Amino acid sequence: MSLRSDEYVLDTPVVRAFVADVRAAIETATSPEDACDTIRPRFAELLADSGWLPGEYQESAADSGMGGGIGTWLLFRAADGSLSLVSLVVPPGAQTPIHDHLAWGVVGLYRGAQDEEVYAERDGGLELVDRRAIEPGDFYALLPPNDDIHRVRTTSPETSVSIHLLTNDIGCVWRHTWHPQSGEPAPFRSGYVNTDCEE
Ligand SMILES: [Fe+2]
Repeated sequence: MSLRSDEYVLDTPVVRAFVADVRAAIETATSPEDACDTIRPRFAELLADSGWLPGEYQESAADSGMGGGIGTWLLFRAADGSLSLVSLVVPPGAQTPIHDHLAWGVVGLYRGAQDEEVYAERDGGLELVDRRAIEPGDFYALLPPNDDIHRVRTTSPETSVSIHLLTNDIGCVWRHTWHPQSGEPAPFRSGYVNTDCEE
């Protein structure tokens, strides 16, 4: 998929400066790990700043690709589909399906609390390899093929909001979910609450 130009849905100096810094980091990095290390302090700054994300991007969505009222809000995406910045809103008690991302990036919690379960594909099935509690300001790198499959659940009485920076157009790429019991994969596209995907 390719757009005509970069799309700043949330067009603010904070988002533009963040994206510019991320692009500079990617350009000079020797590997995704290296880029993540460089991006880390800027991402921490974004998570600590309570003022840059308007309330409308912290709302759940009745009708969404993730189900459970979970909203995937696009904030920014690159013209060539190589980068996206997204807020994922998960209502209290709701959880995402088990899913992958198929691109490296960083994910961090902005509001609320979450439990994350990390899975790995083993012997044709899925194995739970890690489970952790995530608080505001916590963040982690996704570096496929490692740690790319997970499920998150909101554990706080309030909605959780996490910020995703990924090196694809995460709402529009076809990826996978896995059935929690059988471990069967299925094609999956989350979409965005506030933007369409081009066919
Ligand atoms: Fe995810």
